[in-house]
Amino acid sequence: MIEQEKIEEIKRQTDIVDLISQYFPLKKLGKNYRALCPFHSEKTPSFYVSPEKGIFYCFGCKKGGNAINFLMEYEKMDFPTAVKSLAKRLGIEIETTKGLKYKEIYEANEIACQFYALCLTKTIGKRGQNYLVDRKIDIEKLQDFRLGYAPSSGGLVTYARQKGLSKQSLSKAGLISQSTSSRSLEVFRDRLIFPILNLSGRIIGFGGRSIDDQHKPKYLNSPETPTFKKGDILYGLYQAKKAMRTKNEAILVEGYFDLLSLFQRGINNLCAPLGTSLTERQAMLISRFAKKVNILFDGDLSGMKAALRAIGLLINVQVDVFVTSLPEDSDPDRFVNESGVDELKEAIESAVDFFHFYKKMSKPETVEQEVVLIKDLIQIIGNINDPIRFDRYLKYASHVFDIPVETIKNTMDGRTEFPHKPVRQTRIMPEEKLIAMILNMREHFAEFKSILVPEDFTVPGVRRLYRQLLDRGDIDIDDALTSADEDLRQKVYSIIMRGESVTKEALLESIKRHKSSVEETRIRTKISEARTKGDDVALTKYQKEHEALKQKMLHIKKDPVALDREL
Ligand code: UTP
Ligand code: MN
Repeated sequence: MIEQEKIEEIKRQTDIVDLISQYFPLKKLGKNYRALCPFHSEKTPSFYVSPEKGIFYCFGCKKGGNAINFLMEYEKMDFPTAVKSLAKRLGIEIETTKGLKYKEIYEANEIACQFYALCLTKTIGKRGQNYLVDRKIDIEKLQDFRLGYAPSSGGLVTYARQKGLSKQSLSKAGLISQSTSSRSLEVFRDRLIFPILNLSGRIIGFGGRSIDDQHKPKYLNSPETPTFKKGDILYGLYQAKKAMRTKNEAILVEGYFDLLSLFQRGINNLCAPLGTSLTERQAMLISRFAKKVNILFDGDLSGMKAALRAIGLLINVQVDVFVTSLPEDSDPDRFVNESGVDELKEAIESAVDFFHFYKKMSKPETVEQEVVLIKDLIQIIGNINDPIRFDRYLKYASHVFDIPVETIKNTMDGRTEFPHKPVRQTRIMPEEKLIAMILNMREHFAEFKSILVPEDFTVPGVRRLYRQLLDRGDIDIDDALTSADEDLRQKVYSIIMRGESVTKEALLESIKRHKSSVEETRIRTKISEARTKGDDVALTKYQKEHEALKQKMLHIKKDPVALDREL
């Protein structure tokens, strides 16, 4: 949990234009800034940023919110991570309870990393050094990876003790296991050590390759700990993320050595899963840094199969997928060592898109096999959100397999809405407009609040929002909207972003008008009730009230904030 006050401070200090400009350029347009929306594909910009209000809003896809929401949406971060990331930019310290809990593990890993790295430079690490030379790995060019060597004789426990670190901490980090005789066994022995860093550069675990090929398993990873979940991280991402962003392309390899071997030769937008096949979460992670992914797996059958699996996952997170094929007995590390970096670069350049890779891979021999292939491909294409790309692949598939586009579309189960359909246009109700204007001018709320009660609103979400406003007084727009439903949230942001200048007096008139129309409806109901009951006394009374109200309403100006135009 992060303190509410801290969050407020972070939001206050964040310059949203500055933040978003780090991802793509914004053009100044009057008081606001504008760009092509990063959340949907469009040709004319409808993504607006208001520095004054600290919010963004897209009139096309209706996504909007503050700086935190932006990071959550664009970087796919969860709320606390987004807050922390903003805090980091601002140099504001935040200590979360979760962070404290994991501190011990981070510290243990950090000390272990120092120990292994130190060993690699000493006589005790000779085996590690020789192995690196054998495999043509130049540690000087790979400083960021903090490689190390774990001696067969151990030594981590002693080193840690000297640094004031307990066995318990090492054990929590999964670096030692307690044997029955309470003698602790160091997990990594006679292995080359690859520290695994999270996106903040903290060490969360290790991979270790046995120096002696007889020593199984060939690769050993730290056990899962609260900070180390293999399916959630990618090796090399911390070191590669900047290059990935700049190139807007990521190269996905299978192994540690593939990654290091290419990295030291200047190909630096790389990452690798940790020995398991790619997970949904890893695919999501990559998509935060690059819109195009080039799969560069081993040339063998298992590499091909892994590539086919990865394609679907990557398409689902809306990245462009390409596949580089290598000779059957090769992997990127071997290829670059045997044929040189230029030839590898050439291969990478001539990667084919997923469609052609798929077609090439599964050479159908029977009609049945072809049907399976086509159906698989159609399913993958059906998950592409970008309307242009979707259309292209649809036509592609139609042409290549000679199947009418309509037939393919009909096969796409689960795809209820086609992407080229315009975004649903919901009408903004007068009450929604009113609450947005009230939120926008909440500094004057004290002057309005005696007029309306929550029951004056018939839309449940608006009523709830208004009640919060009454209860909590000076409320933050974002806080209020966090609990509102998505539809209302979008509408309110859209109204606020339009930033119509309305005077306090005009808003007051609007509020009064709303109040009277609500009252009028109430009186009308009472009148008709009295009529049904035949209660003449009550009927006369309400009719008089109605007349008086109508008179009063003549003096209220026509709703000045009525919403009658769509942008
Ligand atoms: P490979 O067997 O292709 O290894 O496994 P490699 O990268 O080519 O290794 P070298 O070149 O023989 O050293 C690819 C990746 O699968 C994981 C590792 O992450 C490895 O880099 N792996 C492999 C394991 O986790 N455990 C294993 O026993 C083997
Ligand atoms: Mn390999």
